[in-house]
Parts: sequence; C-alpha cells; structure tokens
Amino acid sequence: MKFSIISILAALLSISSSVATETETQQEVILENEIESTNESICNSTNRECHSSIPFPVMPQKIKAMLLDNHNLLDPQGEEMLSKLQQMEATAAFAHARSTFFEHLKGTFQILSAWNQPTNIKRAGMIHTGYSGDLFQFFLFDSNKEQDRESLRSLIGKEAEELVYYFGTIHRGDLCQFSQAVGRQVAFPKCDVENITVAHRGLNEVEVSPQLAAQILMVTIADYLDQMVDTNGWRDHHQHEEGGNKLYPGNGRPALGFYWFSSVCKAIKPFLEVVPSVFDSCETVITVENEEIARDAYWKVTMDEADLEIDTQIELLQQTVELNPFVGEPHLLLSQIHYRQGQYYDAAIQAQAALKKFYTLASCWDKRRSFAHWVGYARIMLLRSNRKMEGLDSSWPVVDPEDEKYVNYNDLKLTNLHHFVQEMKEREVEGV
Ligand SMILES: *[C@@H]1O[C@H](CO)[C@@H](O)[C@H](O)[C@H]1NC(C)=O
Ligand SMILES: *[C@@H]1O[C@H](CO)[C@@H](O)[C@H](O)[C@H]1NC(C)=O
Ligand SMILES: *[C@@H]1O[C@H](CO)[C@@H](O)[C@H](O)[C@H]1NC(C)=O
Repeated sequence: MKFSIISILAALLSISSSVATETETQQEVILENEIESTNESICNSTNRECHSSIPFPVMPQKIKAMLLDNHNLLDPQGEEMLSKLQQMEATAAFAHARSTFFEHLKGTFQILSAWNQPTNIKRAGMIHTGYSGDLFQFFLFDSNKEQDRESLRSLIGKEAEELVYYFGTIHRGDLCQFSQAVGRQVAFPKCDVENITVAHRGLNEVEVSPQLAAQILMVTIADYLDQMVDTNGWRDHHQHEEGGNKLYPGNGRPALGFYWFSSVCKAIKPFLEVVPSVFDSCETVITVENEEIARDAYWKVTMDEADLEIDTQIELLQQTVELNPFVGEPHLLLSQIHYRQGQYYDAAIQAQAALKKFYTLASCWDKRRSFAHWVGYARIMLLRSNRKMEGLDSSWPVVDPEDEKYVNYNDLKLTNLHHFVQEMKEREVEGV
C-alpha cells in the first residue's frame, strides 16, 4: 500500500506525539497545528484532529457468504435446500413483496443466519410461509396433508418444519402483544412468561410456550425486514380482489417497521437461545414517531435533492442517523456529500459507519438497491476517501497512469478490480 509524504509524516508524528489519542488505536491522530502541511480535508472540522487513514471493519464471514451466495457456510445443507426451493417453479413464479418469492425466502434465511440464529430458526426462515401465514394467503405445502408435511420435513428437518407449521397456522397477533406493537397501541410489548393458548387454523387452538413465541417472532422480524417497502406486492395488490389502489412498485420508499422490530426483539430477548447483536443486542427500541421522522427526512433528500441546499441535505441526513441509528444508508449519502466537498476524513468516517451498520443488520433499509450493492457502495466510498486522505493521485488503485497501455482513448486510467478488492482487504482491521 502506498502512502503519501503527508500521511507518513502524519503517522510518524502521531507515534511520537504526546497528544495522540489512544482510544482510536488504528486511526493515527495528530493535532493540526503540529504539522503545517496537513491538508484540511483529513481533519475533523470541529476538534481539528487530523487522521492519516480510517480502517475497514473486517467483513463478517457470514456477510461474505451472503454476498457470494455460499449457502453452505450459513448451513451445512444450505446449498441443497435452497437449490431445491429454487427449482420449484412456484417460488420463481410468485412475485412477492419486492422480489420473487424465492429471493425473499433466501433473504430471510440469510438474515437469520447472519444473526447467528439456531438451525431450526434459520431454516424455518427459509420457508416461513410454506404453509401460508395469518396475513398471507399463499402456500407451497398443504399443512392439512400429512404427505406435504413429510416432504417439508425431509427438506428442512423435523424441528424447522414444526416451527413453520406453527408460524403458518396460528394467530400470531396474540404472541407477545405482537398485533398491538405493530398497530402502535403498545410501545413496549411484553411476552407472557407462561404458556398461552392461541387460535389455530385447523386445530381450533394450541398452546404456545414463550420460547416458541420468541422463535416465531424472530422469524417474523427477519421476514419483514427483508420486505420493508411501502408498496408491497402481495399485501397491497395480490390480496386485493379489486387490485388495490396504487401503482406497483411505487417509488420504493422504505416502510415503517424498525419500531416494532426493535420493541419485539426486546420483548422476546429473555426467551431466545441466541440474542442477535442487531438493535444493540435487542436492547434499544426506537419509537414509531422517530422512525417516521427519520424515514421522511431521508426520503426528502432522496426525492427533492435538486431543490435542497447541501447544508439542508446534511442536516436531514444527520437527523435520520440520530433518530434511526440502525441503518447505513443515510451515512452513505453523507459520505458522498463530504467526498464531493473534499472532506475526505468525514467521508471516510461516514462510509465506515455505513458499513458497520450494514454488517450488523445483514440487510438494507432502502430496498431500491440490493443489500450486496449497498455494501459494495459503502466499501468503494471508504476506499476512495482513504486514498484521497492519503494524498494519492487517484481514488482508485489504477494500474499505471504513466503507461499508455493502461490509459484508454478517453484518458481513463485502467483499474484492475482484483487489486481493488485486495486493497480493501488489506485495509481491514479487527475490532473496528
Ligand atoms: C469531531 O470532533 C467532535 C468534537 O470532539 C466529535 O464530537 C465528533 O464526533 C468528531 N467527528 C468525527 C466524524 O469523528
Ligand atoms: C407449553 O407449551 C409447549 C408447546 O409450545 C408444550 O410443549 C409444553 O408442554 C407446555 N408446557 C406446559 C407447562 O404446559
Ligand atoms: C488537499 O488534498 C486534496 C487531494 O488530496 C487536494 O485536491 C487539495 O487541493 C488539497 N488541499 C490543500 C489545501 O492542500
């Protein structure tokens, strides 16, 4: 990795300087007045601390497996199960909320896998509405036929099938005040600590333990997180005999859901075998009011960009970050603005924050682009900002701008994408 004179000087100074900050171990920090040649663009505009580089967080193995579709790294039988699902014509044919049914089932499985959930939960996520749902009228397997239940068992195993069975046949709304949480009547839902009796399609009613309720709701959170669009194919159209009243797919605005994802996560936490790290390990709850203000602020920047001053865009995006701290997208937009302004330190900090949030959530919020694409974009912004901070001529690792064989007719300096990936990996630091 090449460093500029400035960054080497900066790094050296930071080692010898008594004012170097110990807390950010990998971020060599210097005070601006100690080095005249320090370029403003790499300094925090508030406290004047200057930095030579901002490291990449290490990409979690499971996120990498998601991006590369290495399903067996998420579950020893991931490849086999997903390939069987994909070969069912119905999963490809059914246009679900925002993608094909198959893509949605895969996405739900991937989120639950990245959240380190036990085998039965992540596999149930893979085919959660296989027997339909209490809000969803479509099914792939007939819960009333033993033969169908047997074939789902042979696909995902006995325990996961049982969870899918409960998921698709009971009235979920009664579990842990789920309906009231979604319906905004209860801000902090609670689970019964004892078994409850809930309505069941077919058996009339069944007993559900708090552990089972927690498992069903964990799958439910991942299920909705994977959809998250305001205009939802099955919910707003397919299930309306008259065709619904808005054009699909609309503009792609994110739906509201983090308020109940976070509050339900907190409610079920005591009954989960594995608490995911998302939502500060199911500790932080955001209100629906805050989520809505955050969403609207983000959407205003998105829709009205041309009419808004840059400072207003920054303010709105900062408000989004403050009120919904779980999403990476507003950081990534901020990173782009700072980059354009030559504030490479701020750009890098925002890209790093975006990346960390994407890795934790294992999904994106703004579904106009795929999760893999958002992660890719954040990594590009972090790399380019870092290279600019280091004073390199090109924000991309170009092969050789002096060699005309690597400069094309439009004066574009050719870039080897394998080098680009290699350099991002070299910049990863544990514990960031
Ligand atoms: C810049 O410095 C201020 C004041 O110390 C601090 O609150 C802020 O978090 C810093 N910004 C970044 C991006 O590190
Ligand atoms: C609670 O319900 C579960 C099924 O969810 C059942 O297996 C268990 O025996 C019940 N426990 C009690 C104490 O009734
Ligand atoms: C700071 O660095 C950037 C690129 O690294 C350069 O474009 C800019 O002119 C520099 N500013 C100063 C004041 O040296």
